[in-house]
Amino acid sequence: MLKRIAVADLRVGMYLQELCGSWLEHPFWKSSFLIEDAKDLKRILDSGVAEAWIDTDKGFDVAVGGQVKEASDAAIERELVKTATQPHIVERVSTEQEVARAAKICGKARQAVSSMFREARMGKALDAENALPLVEEISNSVLRNPGALISLARLKTKDDYTYMHSVAVCALMVALSRQVGLDEAQTREAGMAGLLHDVGKMAVPSDILNKPGKLTDAEFTTVRGHPEAGHLMLLEGRGVSDVSLDVCLHHHEKMDGSGYPHRLAGEQISLFAKMGAVCDVYDAITSDRPYKIGWGPAESLRKMTEWSKGHFDEHIFKAFVKSVGIYPVGSLVLLKSGRLAVVVDQTAQSLLTPKVKVFYSTKSKLRLTPEILDLSRPEARDKIVSHEDPVKWEVRDLQFLWSGVSGPAR
Ligand code: C2E
Ligand code: SIN
Ligand code: FE
Repeated sequence: MLKRIAVADLRVGMYLQELCGSWLEHPFWKSSFLIEDAKDLKRILDSGVAEAWIDTDKGFDVAVGGQVKEASDAAIERELVKTATQPHIVERVSTEQEVARAAKICGKARQAVSSMFREARMGKALDAENALPLVEEISNSVLRNPGALISLARLKTKDDYTYMHSVAVCALMVALSRQVGLDEAQTREAGMAGLLHDVGKMAVPSDILNKPGKLTDAEFTTVRGHPEAGHLMLLEGRGVSDVSLDVCLHHHEKMDGSGYPHRLAGEQISLFAKMGAVCDVYDAITSDRPYKIGWGPAESLRKMTEWSKGHFDEHIFKAFVKSVGIYPVGSLVLLKSGRLAVVVDQTAQSLLTPKVKVFYSTKSKLRLTPEILDLSRPEARDKIVSHEDPVKWEVRDLQFLWSGVSGPAR
C-alpha cells in the first residue's frame, strides 16, 4: 500500500516510492528504492523535501502505536537482490574521459547509418543485425557517460541531419530505458528502434527535407508519410524487431490523439513509441536543422514541459528529464558570481549542481582562464542562477569549451 508520510519519519528498511514536492529538485536519478542505510536516509533528509510516499508492501511500514509493522523479510530480500543484481558491468566515467571515444563512435555511426539508409532508399532490404554491434557501442558509451555522446550527436550539418538524428535518438533511448528501469535486452531494443525510427525519411524527396523555410501543406503531407514508408522498409528488412517496427510507425503519435499516422491516443500508444516521441522531439529541437537553428538543451526541456500535456506521456517525460538532466552537458549557465560557465559533466548527487567550466566574467566583460568548478562541493561557493542563450552572449566556441572538439563529429 502507498502511504504519504513526513520525511522525518522515514526509516532504514522502508521502500521509498517517490518524494513529494518538486521532483526536479531532489537529488535522485531513480526515485523508487529500498532505504538501505543511514547514508540513503541522510541524502533524503538533505534534499529538503518534506514528505514522501512509501510502499508498505515492499518495505517497513510507519510505526503504529510504537510498533513498527514489519514487511515480510521476503519482500525486502527481493528488493535487495534486485538492486544487487542490476547489471552494472559498465563503469561510469567522466565526460572528459568519454568524449574522445564518443566522437569516434559518432563518426563511425554516421557512416554506418548513412550507408544503411541509402541502401534502404535504393530499395535494398535493410539488415538490422548488421547494426547490432553499433547499437551496442553507442549504448555502452551512454552507460559509461550519457552526456558525452548525446551532446556530440546534437551537432549536425544540414546534410547529415537525418543520420546523426538517428544516432542521437538511439543514444537518448538507451539513457531513457535505463531511467525507466528496462532491462538490458529491452534497452538494446529501444536503442535499435531509435536508430531506425526515421528511416522512412529516405522516401521523402531531399529538397523537401532540406527546405530552408516552412513547408507547404502538400509538402507536409508528404513528410507525414514517413512513418508508414519506414514501416514498410523495415517489414521488408531482416532482423527487425517488433519494437523497432512499432516505434518507426508510431513515433509521431501524440497523447491527445492529434498525432499521425493513426491518431492513437493515451494508452493506445506503446511504452516504446511514447519514449521514441520524447527522444525524437528533444533531439530535433536541440539540433540545427535546415529550417531552424537549435535551442539550447535547457530551453528545449522548458518548451517541452509546456507542450508535454497533449504531446507526451507525463511519466515518461519526467523520466526523460531525469535521464538527460536539468543542465545537460553543453548548457550555458550564469553563476551567482556573475560568471558564465558551460556544463561539462553531471554528477549523480544532484541534478542542480553539475560540474561546470567557468570562462567569462559578465562584470568585467572579459574572458577568464577556463576553470572547472564542481558545484556539488561546498568549496565551490557558487551556484547556477539561470540558463543563458549562447547567441545572446555571442559565445561561439561553446562546443569547444566543453568537449575540446570543434565542428561536428566525423
Ligand atoms: P524533425 O525536424 O526531425 O522533427 C521531429 C519532430 O520534432 C516534429 O515532428 C515535431 O514534433 C518536433 N518539432 C521539431 N521542431 C519543432 C518546433 O519548432 N516546434 C514544435 N512544437 N515541435 C517541433 P513533425 O512536426 O511531425 O515534423 C516531422 C518532420 O517534418 C520534421 O522532422 C522535419 O523533417 C519536417 N518538417 C516539419 N516542419 C518543417 C519545416 O517547417 N520546414 C522543413 N524543411 N521541414 C519541416
Ligand atoms: C537555454 O537552454 O536556456 C539556452 C542555453 C543552454 O541551455 O544551452
Ligand atoms: Fe519522424
